[in-house]
Amino acid sequence: MSVTSTFASQIKKDRIPEHVAIIMDGNGRWAKKKGHLRIFGHKHGVGAVRNALEAAVELGVRYLTVYAFSTENWSRPRIEVNALMELLVDTVEKEIPTFMENGIQLQVIGNVDQLPGSCQAQLERAMKITENNDKLTLILALSYSGRWDIIEAVKKISESVKAGVLQPEDINEAVLNTALNTAKFPDPDLLIRTSGEQRISNFLLWEIAYSEIYFTPVLWPDFTKDDFYKAIIDFQGRERRFGKTSEQIA
Ligand code: FPP
Repeated sequence: MSVTSTFASQIKKDRIPEHVAIIMDGNGRWAKKKGHLRIFGHKHGVGAVRNALEAAVELGVRYLTVYAFSTENWSRPRIEVNALMELLVDTVEKEIPTFMENGIQLQVIGNVDQLPGSCQAQLERAMKITENNDKLTLILALSYSGRWDIIEAVKKISESVKAGVLQPEDINEAVLNTALNTAKFPDPDLLIRTSGEQRISNFLLWEIAYSEIYFTPVLWPDFTKDDFYKAIIDFQGRERRFGKTSEQIA
């Protein structure tokens, strides 16, 4: 951990969130402010992903989920979609050594079948290479949306009911959890959204039921390790009651 960061030194080591999820927003606006095309912002956004990842590894966060491409992003101009896909493949390829050095396992959630074949192959390769790493799991949400995942889960559950292996009265939270793309991961403790927008934008709708939400005006390409530490400090100042009273959780 950087000893020069006054923010890092304020973090309590015994209350680190297990899972942090991030809506990385503001790449386009950042690029526009500098008179560049949107993709310039996405390229600089990769550096911010690295900052968040580095800070998360240092603090001992176990899961980091980043919203890299939503179901809705497919309707962006073709040129931006293609550039984003290329950037993803290149980044994943380039970062494999860093993943190996830092014990980072790569996982993906979303409708991966919709991604270009080259992208799918590269992701498969990176997931295979990193499968035994166990310090932090980096989960890329790609062609993902919360509603899409819930619908897919409902379809799977319906098939089980149709086949007679599950009774409708046995459907509960655990059954739905198991049918989601996020089944293997704990729910996020903390959700961060950058760029000053205060929305969920169809991200992890089911999973963030009890997540603490932190909004920051920082545009994603400007997001530093200190910005990550600030979000953690804010999280540590919150009282998580999960529907109970303060006295019950004391
Ligand atoms: C949102 O900004 C950002 C995205 C849709 C893409 C995020 C992608 C990256 C940071 C690059 C690759 C990441 C990985 C994990 C390899 P926006 O375009 O919506 O910005 P705006 O709201 O200012 O228009």
